[in-house]
Amino acid sequence: MDRQEVQKLANYFRDKPAEEVLRSFLSDHGLHASNGNKDRIALASSLGAEDQVLTHMVLEIYPDARIFILDTGRFHSETYELIQKTMLRYGVHYEVKFPESADIEEMESRFGPELFYESIENRKKCCHFRKVKPLQKVLSTLDVWVTGLRRAQAVTRGSVDKVEWDEGNGLVKLNPLADWSEDRVWKYIKQNNVPYSSLHDRGYTSIGCAPCTRAIARGEDVRAGRWWWETPEQKECGLHAAGSGI
Ligand code: ADX
Ligand code: SF4
Repeated sequence: MDRQEVQKLANYFRDKPAEEVLRSFLSDHGLHASNGNKDRIALASSLGAEDQVLTHMVLEIYPDARIFILDTGRFHSETYELIQKTMLRYGVHYEVKFPESADIEEMESRFGPELFYESIENRKKCCHFRKVKPLQKVLSTLDVWVTGLRRAQAVTRGSVDKVEWDEGNGLVKLNPLADWSEDRVWKYIKQNNVPYSSLHDRGYTSIGCAPCTRAIARGEDVRAGRWWWETPEQKECGLHAAGSGI
């Protein structure tokens, strides 16, 4: 698929419902079924509320859909509980990806296990070895990846589209919930009885690694609890390069 084709799809799907975007890429008779190969499309799940919505939608359309988790090794125990619960509920087998042990051994030996609090450079280093490098490895097996990004989540995400060309990684990126509000996510979860993290009931609106995520106070931005010691413009871990879309 070239850039021009992706641009056409981006325009076509801009106001279409999330399910239609997914069905179109995931069904045998879909218009844009990833070159007809459903093994070349996968959902990236962090087990956050948006990804649980997408897990439900994707598995309804295609029960053998690929869903991968970049297990940084630093998740909350509640996140591991939810992985287990979701596997049982849907009979799904996640593709769990760990970082390279040699990378983490070297990084922690040099900078310590809590290096992320020391500087933005160190925080990005940790995100790179624990998330970005493993992501790049998975993406090399795909033509299309699906994420739970929403425009309203952050200043860095204001221009997210439902279909994008991911320039940095060289493949198509789908963000079917791009125009969803947080309320809509929760309405869907309740209506469909979708399993969700117990952390959400304790004030965590966005869930990442345990040492880098905290609950938010009333009125704070939904991602205020992520890397709370940094400014909003810096809060991306490298999974979603700003401006990578078309
Ligand atoms: S992050 O870049 O700051 O970590 P965020 O937590 O908001 O991103 O998640 C945005 C989307 O990135 C998720 O909806 C999911 O598709 C993907 N994602 C984030 N973290 C992971 C992870 N650990 N494993 C798989 N996908 C992830
Ligand atoms: Fe490391 Fe924190 Fe990034 Fe997780 S979110 S990979 S612990 S810096």
